[in-house]
Amino acid sequence: MDESDLLREPPPAFNHTEALRLVRDSYGLVATGLRPLDSERDQMFFVTDGGGALAVLKISNPAESPETLDMECRAMAHLSEVDPMLPIPGLILTIDGEPVGSAIHEDGTRHLMRVMTVLAGTPAEGRPVSLEFAANVGDICARVSVGLRGFFHPRAGRPIGWDIRIERADDPLASPPTDPLASRLADARRRIRPALAATRALPSGVQHADVTLTNVLRAADFHEITGVIDFGDMHHTAVACDLATSLTSVLRSTGPVRESPWELVAAFLDGYQRRRPLLPAEAEVIGHLVLARVVTTLDISRARAARHHDNRAYITQYDEGRRELLEMLTDLTDDELAARFARLAGVPPRPRERGPSGRTDLAARRAAVLGGRLAPTFYEEPLHIERGDGPWLLDADGNRYLDAYNNVAVAGHNHPAITAAIVRELHTLNTNSRYLHPEIVALAERLTASMPAGLDTCVFTTSGTEAVELAWRMAVAHTGSAGTLVTEWAYHGISSRTHDFSPNDWRQEHAVADVATFAAPHAGTGRLDHAAAQARVRAAAASLESRGVGTAILMVDPQFTSEGILDAPADFMAGLVDGVHEAGGLFLADEVQSGFGRSGPRLWRFATQSITPDLVTLGKPMGAGLPVAAVVTRREIADAFARDHEYFSTFAGNPVVCAAASAVLDVLADRRIPERAVRVGEHLRARLADLARRFPVISAVRGYGLIAGIDLRGGGPAFTASVVEDLRRRRVLAGRTGRRGDVLKVRPPLIWREEHADHFVATLEAVLSDLD
Ligand SMILES: Cc1ncc(COP(=O)(O)O)c(C=O)c1O
Repeated sequence: MDESDLLREPPPAFNHTEALRLVRDSYGLVATGLRPLDSERDQMFFVTDGGGALAVLKISNPAESPETLDMECRAMAHLSEVDPMLPIPGLILTIDGEPVGSAIHEDGTRHLMRVMTVLAGTPAEGRPVSLEFAANVGDICARVSVGLRGFFHPRAGRPIGWDIRIERADDPLASPPTDPLASRLADARRRIRPALAATRALPSGVQHADVTLTNVLRAADFHEITGVIDFGDMHHTAVACDLATSLTSVLRSTGPVRESPWELVAAFLDGYQRRRPLLPAEAEVIGHLVLARVVTTLDISRARAARHHDNRAYITQYDEGRRELLEMLTDLTDDELAARFARLAGVPPRPRERGPSGRTDLAARRAAVLGGRLAPTFYEEPLHIERGDGPWLLDADGNRYLDAYNNVAVAGHNHPAITAAIVRELHTLNTNSRYLHPEIVALAERLTASMPAGLDTCVFTTSGTEAVELAWRMAVAHTGSAGTLVTEWAYHGISSRTHDFSPNDWRQEHAVADVATFAAPHAGTGRLDHAAAQARVRAAAASLESRGVGTAILMVDPQFTSEGILDAPADFMAGLVDGVHEAGGLFLADEVQSGFGRSGPRLWRFATQSITPDLVTLGKPMGAGLPVAAVVTRREIADAFARDHEYFSTFAGNPVVCAAASAVLDVLADRRIPERAVRVGEHLRARLADLARRFPVISAVRGYGLIAGIDLRGGGPAFTASVVEDLRRRRVLAGRTGRRGDVLKVRPPLIWREEHADHFVATLEAVLSDLD
């Protein structure tokens, strides 16, 4: 018999005496009564013992196949193993230990039967659906689907009428052409085709496919779901089709309607995604799949009502809701329908502006709202980068650029392990650092363990700026002085206070009473040893002293990036540390630029210079683009600050950004990226040194680890700017730095291999040859 015979064969008609005898003889259940339950194709009873219901007896339609029941029983057993708390009926075995028994009717017909445990609650159909309840239906629908992920049964591939992907022809008997609904249905049937075809490429598996209000049980007064029943429509399909079936029943509910349909959709999808986030490609077809389910159910009920006039009221009981839904959905255009559901799922289609005209529009809109001169873009012709891929960036036209600039993507753009860690934590929790959380503590432990002994305290912030400012406040509290020493072209942040520490952004006349500068270790500025460094610090501290200000802190980027990327000898760095200690201040290694493995094989640049700072600031690559930064210091320094202040910044060190930072550390360690950075950096600079021999415009190549400062002093700032522009035209992205802007800055993601370095050098060679 075919599955469609199930709806043609009359349901079984056992009388009470026979049914009671069946449960006694086959299951050993001594029952005193039976209460019939509604069923379209089977015969079902509550088996009672006078008081409450003992069990549910389900006698199957004679057309039911044993394989289908086998699939149902195995699916239920599978679910109760993988998700033991999922409220589904348990199977009671026959006295022979079988999940399915057989019952012979007095007319000789043979039926299969099952006895199941009773779940609390009653079917949700007909009762008002609150937003909270809609979310719970979404939740349980996803939960069943997730539970069935690893389930397989050959019977799941049988043709079944409820499969919304079945192509149905117009049924002339059910839909005479004069019927106003007929044209809407025909139109809908055409419109759902592309979405149904698209589901072939979406996650699929054996689905319950009927987690609808009729099969969801709920408690009397609460939104709580107490059970999911009836696995009879299971089949293999796209997971999104299963979702659409469930969501449609919420939208066409027969209960009193209090909520707007769109709010119900949003609530259902929120609940669903608590368990199973949707892929963008799934979210985009949900609207059309709901429409497909409406079409399927209307088709089936109209075809059957046309043939079974006697049972018409029962068959068509949900049709009014379906009709309203059909109208609501088909009143939208295809684009609106797709976008509406995708937006409510939180996965809106991304705006796309392709081609030169799209880019011009975007640039104009950007200039209008992002502050014009305050928000410049890189390059004369702004780049519209759409996607990252390891060391590559792809623009909106699909062109691929080698990234020689972005150090935030330290492990490469869109690293899957880092993305997964962020998403996983986002799906779990995102509060703040004032609750106990293992992720936050573990990250602080890892960072302090990577530092010299004594640097035992980690305070999270949301940016490098905030970290530097906090480090300065700690130093002020600890030393009782207020003065700051920085190099002459330093950059340490964007806030008002850190701007005072950033001469590279000062206007000529900017003078700060409590900040003094000293010369960075540029080649040609005299000896670069311990004594020279100490002398420079002494002079700067004396300058502060002359203004009546004591020295609280000396801060340096140990890579001197904004100074033009300098190779400071370890001896010089030790002189800076001793110099500031002599002046009564603390030493801050600002590793916001240089940290996280760029100088390899250790994580921190200062470690390669054999110095021990009092404070370290971290940022930029720390969270692969998520806002996480930190100060690491000694407890006594943090305590000095805590005497008079507390420090709490809402987003700083929340579970999600800490998960990102831990994932960055994992990727760096597991793939030995800092070690590789040393190797590739040396290769890069060796090749650049070759180039410098051929192009005298290159006066020096500097850097330690995977960074290079290519000094183009011979050409000047305008020349360097044109090199950057020309590199970009040849799809390589680099930057400029240094006091005069004449140092080409190559500071790529650390996952560069030798071939990327070679590609960079070859492109630079072509640029220099052309500009020569
Ligand atoms: C050395 C140094 N410190 C601090 C900062 C400020 O970091 P943020 O931009 O995260 O505020 C920067 C930023 O470039 C930096 O290079």
